[in-house]
Amino acid sequence: MTGTFNALKVTDNVYWVGAIDFAVRDFHGYLTSRGTTYNAYLVTGEKVALIDTVKAGFADEMLARIASVTDPRKIDVIVSNHAEPDHSGSLTETIAACEPEKVYASKKGCQALRAHYGLDGVLTAVEDGQTLSLGNLDLTCVETPMCHWPDSMVTYLHEDELLFSQDIFGMHLATYEMFDDLVDESVMDHEAAKYYANILLPLSAFVTKALRRVEELDISLKIIAPDHGPIWRDDPAKIVRSYVRWATQPRVNKAIVVYDTMWKSTERMARAIGEGLASGGAHTRLMPMSSCHRSDVATELMDAGALVVGAPTLNAQMFPTVADVLTYVKGLRPRGLIGAAFGSYGWGARASKQIGDMLETMQVELVAEPLEVNYVPGTEALKRCYELGRTIAAKLRDKFGHSPSA
Ligand code: FEO
Repeated sequence: MTGTFNALKVTDNVYWVGAIDFAVRDFHGYLTSRGTTYNAYLVTGEKVALIDTVKAGFADEMLARIASVTDPRKIDVIVSNHAEPDHSGSLTETIAACEPEKVYASKKGCQALRAHYGLDGVLTAVEDGQTLSLGNLDLTCVETPMCHWPDSMVTYLHEDELLFSQDIFGMHLATYEMFDDLVDESVMDHEAAKYYANILLPLSAFVTKALRRVEELDISLKIIAPDHGPIWRDDPAKIVRSYVRWATQPRVNKAIVVYDTMWKSTERMARAIGEGLASGGAHTRLMPMSSCHRSDVATELMDAGALVVGAPTLNAQMFPTVADVLTYVKGLRPRGLIGAAFGSYGWGARASKQIGDMLETMQVELVAEPLEVNYVPGTEALKRCYELGRTIAAKLRDKFGHSPSA
């Protein structure tokens, strides 16, 4: 592989030496529509450090990129900011190839790396706030627990004012254009929001703590180098501002209607509810689970004020695609939503009640009793659906005003 993969210069002291995965589409349940990158960074001080590694199967690519700068055996230390296998899956292979003196990780990182790979002697725990000297360069490690795993930490390179931020500030986007000023801004905005919605939303309190912790260091941030997606060198403050905002889960006058259908009855109900919502002024999006992915629902939920969910009853249960998306978004713990449940049934109305119960456990404020229709909705039933949409729209207006924009 040497000779076909090159490192990318970030600063005079830092090279990106990661791997680009154009093929991956499933990231533990998250649809990575644009693939991803596993970012690793080479810091070439008097001593040489490798920050994080790549997913199993991509070690050759990373080692070849390293070799375009220096002999991999010149690496003195590896810093593992995060033990999840997308960043550590090739660690054993990398240690064998580079023979570093030490692999640094947080205490919990060492535990996780031992549990995953049986590593021991080479592992060294760093204290929160500890500075590692590369001779002429200093790296300070700061723990950011639960951003994304208990072991997570970030590492700051003082001389370059550069933060290796592991999962934080990342996005799933496979690209050769590895800097924020080289990628279409709308693509960056969407993928960064999708990443936050699907990975960090339930950990927002920890994100806030991590941001505060970095702020307390009183350092300037010229560059943010995350473990996924482009490096923020043009406007790193932009993504920090977005995280500060997203962590508060700001909501707007917007409703999403998530549903699936067997014989189009629940779909007719969804469409009538959608018409009611839209006519009441709510920015409205219908999301049939036959053609939408759960991670896109999570993304839309980042700023929606209302979550309306419908399913037909199948074998006394809500339709399974709707159970799937509800289970997924419940785990992401969106807060401050209003909502409602609906669905058609044949000989036993169960789904809409089950959905309503699930929404309540998610602390969604229900604006109406579950709306049920036997078999096929007629004119009267559709009128009730439309009115439910109007009722939700009125409530959204009361809470968030007329504008659908944040
Ligand atoms: Fe990109 Fe939590 O791993």
